[in-house]
Amino acid sequence: MRNQGLPDDTFDGRPVIGICNTWSELTPCNAHFRAIAEKVKTGVYQAGGIPVEFPVMSLGESNLRPTAMLFRNLASMDVEESIRGNPLDGVVLLVGCDKTTPALMMGAASCDLPTIVVSGGPMLNGKFEGQEIGSGTAVWQFSEGVRAGEITVGQFREMEAGMSRSAGSCMTMGTASTMASMVEVLGMGLPNNAAIPAVDSRRLLLSQLAGRRIVEMVEEDVRPSKILTREAFENAICVNAAIGGSTNAVLHLLALAGRVGVDLSLDDWDRLGRDVPTMVNLQPSGKYLMEDFYYAGGLPVVVRQLDSAGMLHSDASTVNGHTLRENTTDAVNHNEDVIRPIDRPLVRDGGIGVLRGNLAPNGAVIKPSAASPELMVHRGRAVVFENIEDYRERINDPELNVDESCVMVLKNCGPVGYPGMPEVGNMGLPPKVLKKGVKDMVRISDARMSGTAYGTVILHVAPEAAAGGPLALVADGDFIELDVRKRRIHLDVTDDVLERRRADWKAPSFAISGGYQQLYRETVLQADQGVDLDFLVGSRGHEIPRESH
Ligand code: FES
Repeated sequence: MRNQGLPDDTFDGRPVIGICNTWSELTPCNAHFRAIAEKVKTGVYQAGGIPVEFPVMSLGESNLRPTAMLFRNLASMDVEESIRGNPLDGVVLLVGCDKTTPALMMGAASCDLPTIVVSGGPMLNGKFEGQEIGSGTAVWQFSEGVRAGEITVGQFREMEAGMSRSAGSCMTMGTASTMASMVEVLGMGLPNNAAIPAVDSRRLLLSQLAGRRIVEMVEEDVRPSKILTREAFENAICVNAAIGGSTNAVLHLLALAGRVGVDLSLDDWDRLGRDVPTMVNLQPSGKYLMEDFYYAGGLPVVVRQLDSAGMLHSDASTVNGHTLRENTTDAVNHNEDVIRPIDRPLVRDGGIGVLRGNLAPNGAVIKPSAASPELMVHRGRAVVFENIEDYRERINDPELNVDESCVMVLKNCGPVGYPGMPEVGNMGLPPKVLKKGVKDMVRISDARMSGTAYGTVILHVAPEAAAGGPLALVADGDFIELDVRKRRIHLDVTDDVLERRRADWKAPSFAISGGYQQLYRETVLQADQGVDLDFLVGSRGHEIPRESH
């Protein structure tokens, strides 16, 4: 490292802090991370440490194909091996967009060196024709408008420019904002990590403070295993319900818990999220955007309100050395329409619902706060799409035998099936239904849904169709029953008929063999287990085995 002009005493025992940077111009949400890294470095120097910045695989949600989720686990391997293989004492993770947050936390958790997470922050509120518009959410709304013939493609493009007008990640309560909130409530980031806009100078301040703090954390030996306890995950599930967070958080937290040996299950999501009110009035469940959330007081207010109701383990530790309660005692709600008081919530029961039945023996999830109340109990005729190509080919066909009472079923979009489990579960409605002014239908799949999306959408059906789950056996014309209150999803077909169909079922074949995709398909766990690769579960520590020295 002499070639970087470092003086003799650089490595004289001072903590060496890795700054794990996911900067990339192909990850537009993280394209401002060089400035953040510089501020982290300043903080590390100020506290007497030596910062060394290094790149890891970046995951741009809007660019990576077939889906960024395919590469979450690969990036986590890059992070884990980069941290373990290099001479580091602590690490700062610079994360943003949807997948770098879980990927970097998973990799760092498997290493268990002192770690602090800095999120890149959301974009400023989107603006279009005098209205506030939210990233992702506006895309779904306006693209349906184009398909229904209500707006032009030119208007759509202007909307897109107004939506993405500053550095940062999606500013709705989509997956990026949800995961940044999870960082904060899990205790892995500093207070206000979730909501400070990317271009607000206080984001740079937070980065500098994180740089200072990681040096102290090395001295105090504060590791992820001390922060990421069962109580921390239970807090996160509760807060996810209170913020109207993304269904993707289910997968990411299950996978992260697996890395630190916390036995978290889908049933924990249902049990702990039940009766937790959604207080944060942000799109896609509500009205406002992340900038408003920050000005209203941000996540500390949410934590404080939940704590006042006795709903949190507020003595959980956080990276700054204080408990969750200590970090939030002074939080003040500056706008009670953006962050509703707990007795006047946006949605009374905001938790993720976990449904089970013969169609999803190992579970499926629904986000009730983004669904239509009138569809929460529903029986409808199945209109089946065998895969996403089949859906795209037929959805615009005026002859498609579908109406708004039907249940749209999409197969072969799970972890193995696509592969990578793309965000196509909120498949757009048929134009012939949209033209009647209908905005929602029940949709069921083994896919995921963007955190910015909405609708009565049942996701993550496990086991998935490509793994031979019952979803593979649904046929056009079958009847499906949904009762979210009773947590039930049922395919109204006799066991005998299903057995006959199973005998004829053939597993899908895949165009790509070899390489990472094959490794992924052969080792990926199902949605109810967090979609990690089976051999990555657990922590392997940061020591290099002696025999390899
Ligand atoms: Fe990066 Fe939405 S595309 S957060």
